[in-house]
Amino acid sequence: MSIMTFSVLPAQKKSIDQKVDSVLKLMTLDEKIGQMNQYNGDWAATGPITKDGDKQSQIKKGMLGSMLNVTGVDHTRTLQEIAMQSRLKIPLLFGQDVIHGYRTTFPIPLGEAASWDLKAIEQSARIAAIEAAAAGVHWTFAPMVDIARDPRWGRVMEGAGEDTYLGSLIAAARVKGFQGKGLGNTDAVMACAKHFAAYGAAVAGRDYNSVDMSLRQLWETYLPPFKAAADAGAATFMNSFNDLNGIPATGNAYLQRTVLKGNWNFKGFVVSDWGSVGEMINHGFVKDNYEAAMAAANAGSDMDMESRSYIQNLSKLVKEGKVKMAVIDEAVKRILRKKFEMGLFDDPYRFCNTEREKKEWNNPEHIIAAREIAKKSMVLLKNNHQLLPVNKSVQTIALIGPFVKAKSDNLGFWSYDWPDDTTRIVSLWEGVRSKAPAAKMLYAYGCGIKDTSRAGFAEAVAAAIQSDIVIISVGEARDMTGEAKSRSTIQLPGVQEELIKAVAATGKPVVVLISAGRPLVFNWIADNVPAIVYTWWLGTQAGNAIADVLFGDYNPSGKLPISFPRTEGQIPVYYNHYNTGRPAKDENDLNYVSAYTDLPNSPKFPFGYGLSYTQFSYSDIKLNKPTINAKETLTVQTTVTNTGKFDGEETVQLYTRDLFGSVVRPVKELKGFQKIYLKAGESKTVTFDLTADDLRFYTDQLQYIYEPGDFKVFVGGSSADVKEAAFTLVK
Ligand code: BGC
Repeated sequence: MSIMTFSVLPAQKKSIDQKVDSVLKLMTLDEKIGQMNQYNGDWAATGPITKDGDKQSQIKKGMLGSMLNVTGVDHTRTLQEIAMQSRLKIPLLFGQDVIHGYRTTFPIPLGEAASWDLKAIEQSARIAAIEAAAAGVHWTFAPMVDIARDPRWGRVMEGAGEDTYLGSLIAAARVKGFQGKGLGNTDAVMACAKHFAAYGAAVAGRDYNSVDMSLRQLWETYLPPFKAAADAGAATFMNSFNDLNGIPATGNAYLQRTVLKGNWNFKGFVVSDWGSVGEMINHGFVKDNYEAAMAAANAGSDMDMESRSYIQNLSKLVKEGKVKMAVIDEAVKRILRKKFEMGLFDDPYRFCNTEREKKEWNNPEHIIAAREIAKKSMVLLKNNHQLLPVNKSVQTIALIGPFVKAKSDNLGFWSYDWPDDTTRIVSLWEGVRSKAPAAKMLYAYGCGIKDTSRAGFAEAVAAAIQSDIVIISVGEARDMTGEAKSRSTIQLPGVQEELIKAVAATGKPVVVLISAGRPLVFNWIADNVPAIVYTWWLGTQAGNAIADVLFGDYNPSGKLPISFPRTEGQIPVYYNHYNTGRPAKDENDLNYVSAYTDLPNSPKFPFGYGLSYTQFSYSDIKLNKPTINAKETLTVQTTVTNTGKFDGEETVQLYTRDLFGSVVRPVKELKGFQKIYLKAGESKTVTFDLTADDLRFYTDQLQYIYEPGDFKVFVGGSSADVKEAAFTLVK
């Protein structure tokens, strides 16, 4: 069905650019500005709402190019039908935050990152796209690819953690997953790499806060995941709330024009963050919405989400010559191009298929995949005396804590509630019940997540005393980590840690499960409880996946994608720091060195760390040669042996250190990893190739170069547990 009637040539014969041009020619200035305007629908709100009249009549007038938070086939169809009554019948784009699933909720992105499993991560995004597209959604505001080294920042949950290399691979995997076989397929949604840029470096971990960093740091640490997303074909970018070195990202021409659309040749469009155009007034960057619209449009923000700055000011700005018509045309072309690529001009209702929506609503394959990736996302932090896995013939098991029977708290922030959640989401209780049907299960709530009352402790202790093993499930409520959810202290909320102490005092073997959106600080538990599994927020299949791990049907393989601090005072703590001029010799060295007097420099749990039920030993590293030149390849080999009793998966990590550089280099940098599966007793030799290109970095003049010199190479199962070797790069 072809809705457009203005084509001079038959539509199919024209290239998309020609089609875009032919539409553009027909558009009035107001219609063009309409395309650059995006409003929230009334399904949900993910920011401060502006109520300003009848959106439907504005759609009819062509004053809107896109809406967010409108979902469901019926709903999107109704609004699209209204768009089809506008003069040029330009279809609307419907955007939605499909961050870790839509109908089926997958683990939070930080949790998925702990899987280090790019295929699984891509698959999770693929399924999210299939479900969302079936419900009329064209565009997800994901992936969030902000590097984050500060767990106080609530949005740490949305990204892939602290490492640029891992984060870049995951960014690309997510884009591929969302966009599937390419825009134009009805199961592909447009991806949106956000928040451009450096949003994750907000001062003090406070959301929306300023970011001040060197351009070198920006290019080396924060931009690569965005570049990876662009290279993977991300259709859109979202700019961000923060200022970067004094210029709000939304009005930042360097970021959007020079880097993104210039250096990277990005052909998609940039949407502002919610209200971020208008927020430049609060930043103190512009005086009013008129100036805000001017700054944002000229800087390369193509679409205004919810500020109304464009719709109210751009026409005047163009007439007064403050924003050139070419700027408007370029933005509109970028937007129209995506609408064509999505096939919406051919059929604006192609995402409005009720049958498909019904089919994907309860697609059983999606549930299976959700369980798989949830299993892979968990990180076994401690397992003294091989307390885990629990024997399935255990007689009495006590399940204690606010998460045991929780449902929606398993979903975490940026997830959707559905009417059948109580039956669809699998609680820990249900997961354990089906895993060990013969076991006697005792339950005690203990306390609420945020409770200050200890009234439930006695019941919890009584249950523990009668049991053979105690599982305590604690954590953060679903709304404690996410947007605008920064916390200055990141301990377990309420009296949950006290509950654990009370239960542990019974002397019964205790396993603690921690559900959270960020690294928490839980030193007492880490030091005193024999077994700890970090479960993040695992989504719809949480209970089944946790039971798979607890009872050994799945041997945990997750590795932390972010360092866990000992206290908030250490933040930011990350593995790839510099050595400083006064590095401490060891953790006891306090003699005028760069150290804390009251705690070690190292984190509680390092980047890349995670245990298995089995053990892996690493041979010494073998290099093919001690010296390579810029054209040669260094091969780095290690033999990994499963020395334990269980089959299991290990993530073998490769790091390098450039010992001397024209700018100082981190003590370690991740350069590669491989996931290998080893049967008990089995060995495998893992080979990594390194070339000079892997050793590049940004100079203070922002040249991306490698420098001849001495390097170290490390291989191991965590950033803090490695074997090392040395090599030299010569010209
Ligand atoms: C968030 C974005 C999100 C947008 C739309 C903003 O508040 O920062 O990440 O995509 O709202 O919901």
